[in-house]
Amino acid sequence: MSESRELLNQKRAESLLGGGQARIDSQHKKGKLTARERIALLLDENTFCEIGAFVAHRSSDFGMEKQKLLGDGVVTGYGKVNGRLTYVFSQDFTVFGGSLSETHAEKICKIMDLALQNGAPLIGLNDSGGARIQEGVVSLGGYADIFYKNVRSSGVIPQISAIMGPCAGGAVYSPALTDFIYMVENTSYMFVTGPNVVKTVTNEDVSSEDLGGASVHGSKSGVAHFTVANEVLCIQNIRKLLSYVPQNCEEKTAKLEYHLANEVRDSLKNIIPNNPNQPYNIKDVIENIVDESSFYEVHTNFAENIVVGFARLAGRSIGIVANQPAYLAGVLDVASSQKAARFVRFCDAFNIPLLVLEDVPGFLPGTDQEWNAIITNGAKLLYAFSEATVPRITVITRKAYGGAYDVMNSKHIGADMNFAWPSAEIAVMGAKGAAEIIFKKEIDSASDKSAALKEKEQEYSDLFANPYRAAERGFVDEVIFPEETRLKLIHAFEMLENKVSNLPRKKHGNIPL
Ligand code: HXC
Repeated sequence: MSESRELLNQKRAESLLGGGQARIDSQHKKGKLTARERIALLLDENTFCEIGAFVAHRSSDFGMEKQKLLGDGVVTGYGKVNGRLTYVFSQDFTVFGGSLSETHAEKICKIMDLALQNGAPLIGLNDSGGARIQEGVVSLGGYADIFYKNVRSSGVIPQISAIMGPCAGGAVYSPALTDFIYMVENTSYMFVTGPNVVKTVTNEDVSSEDLGGASVHGSKSGVAHFTVANEVLCIQNIRKLLSYVPQNCEEKTAKLEYHLANEVRDSLKNIIPNNPNQPYNIKDVIENIVDESSFYEVHTNFAENIVVGFARLAGRSIGIVANQPAYLAGVLDVASSQKAARFVRFCDAFNIPLLVLEDVPGFLPGTDQEWNAIITNGAKLLYAFSEATVPRITVITRKAYGGAYDVMNSKHIGADMNFAWPSAEIAVMGAKGAAEIIFKKEIDSASDKSAALKEKEQEYSDLFANPYRAAERGFVDEVIFPEETRLKLIHAFEMLENKVSNLPRKKHGNIPL
C-alpha cells in the first residue's frame, strides 16, 4: 500500500471513530446514538456521501491547536431517503460537546448551500453544547451565517430539525427557523437560558426537563411539532414526514398509485351526535376520509382544539386542518390559530392541497385570550388561508358560527370548494344565544319565559341551523351525505389538480406576526 493511501485510510478511520470507541460508548451510555449511527438510520443503505470529513478547527487559543479531531464535531453530506436526494448534518457530541466552531459552521453552511442550490430537503440532527466557548465571536458569527441561510431556504426546500441532545442559547434559533422540529423524550432539551440563569434572574428552581424538555415543547410551548420516545423512532418519523412533502417549492409530492374502489364510508353516517352540544372525535372523521392509516398528525399534544397533519387521499398528499369538538368544543384560540396558520403556510409553500374540516362554535372569549392577542393571532390564520393558492376544500360537519365561519377556509377567502353535511349549522351564533338576544323583549314579556325561549330557539334553528341558506347563496357548493365525503373529495381534488392562482405582485405580504 502506498504511503499516501495508508495515510488516507488512517485519517478516515480516525474521522469515522471520532477519536475512538470510548467516544461511541459515552454516547450509548447516555441512551444516545452517535452522529454516524443517526445518519445511517436516516438514509437509505449505502447512499451516504460525506463532505468535509477531514475538516479541522483553526483555533489556537487555550491549547486548542493540540486538540484537533477530524470533522470538527459535525458529520455532513448527502444521500437518499426513499430514493430521493436529501442533505444532512449530524452534530457529534463526543467532539467538544458538539459545540459549533467556525469550521463546524462552515461545514453546515456548505451543506445548506448545496441543498438550496439543488432543491432537496435539509435535515439537521442537533446534539450540541452551543457556541464553541474557546472560539468566541467567530463561533457566534457561524451561528448567524446558519440562521441567515435557514431564512434564505425557507419556503424553497423543506428544512427539518431533530433535537437529540442539548440545544441551548442562541443555538435554538436555527431549528426554530426550520419547518419542523422533532424532540426525543428525556434526552433532549431546548431553551434560550438554562436552569442556572433562570435561578439567578428569577429565583425559580426548574430542571432542564421541566424548562425545555420534549414534553414541555410538545404540549405547552408548541416549539416541538413532534415528540418521540427514542432516536430510532425519531429518525423513522423524519423519513415518514419526507414522504408527504416534495423536494422543493417547484414540485408536487409524487402521487402514489391508487385505483378507485368502494369509497363510501358508512361509519360516517351516524358520527354526528343528535345533541349539537355533544362532542365527537374529529380524528374518527379524518380516519374515515383519508387513505387507510395515512394520517400523520403534527403537534398532537399542542392546542388540541385544532388537529393538523398530513394524509393521503387516493394516493395524493394533502394537509388537513380540522376543528376538534372533543377538546374545548373546538373553539379557536391563540394557540390553535398559530398552530393552524403555520401548518397552512407550510402546505401552501410546498404545493400540498388543503382539506379543512369545520365544526367551530367561534373564538374563545375571555381576558386571557384578548390580552394574549387573539385578534392578532386569529388574523394569522385568516391571513394564511386567504393567501394560500393551493387547492383548498372545506367540509362543514356541524357548527360554522360567527367570524370562525369566515376564517376556517370559507369560499369568501378563496376556498375552491365548500361542502356541508346535512348536520351543518351556518349562523352568526348558536340558536339559543341568538334567540336570547333578538327575541329578548318577547321572551321577557311571556308568561312562560322558558317555553318562549324554546319556541324562539326552534324558530331560529329552523331558519339558520342548517346548510341550505348558505347553499342557496353558493357559499356552500353542495350538501353531501357524510358517507359520500371521501368520494366527493377525491373527485374535487382531482378536478383542482392543475389549479393556477397568482397573488398580486408584491415584495412580500405583512402577515400579522
Ligand atoms: C466547548 C464544550 C461546550 C462548548 C460542552 N463542551 N459544551 N466545549 N464549547 N460550548 C465540552 C465540555 O468541555 C466537555 O469536554 C464535553 O464537551 C462534554 O461536556 P460535558 O459538560 O462533560 O457534558 P454534559 O455533562 O453532558 O453537559 C452538556 C452541557 C454542558 C449541558 C451542554 O457541557 C454545558 O453546559 N456546556 C456549555 C453550554 C453553553 O453555555 N454553551 C454556550 C451557549 S450560548 P471534555 O473535553 O471534558 O470531554 C450559545 C450562543 C449561541 O450557544 C449564539 C448564537 C447567536
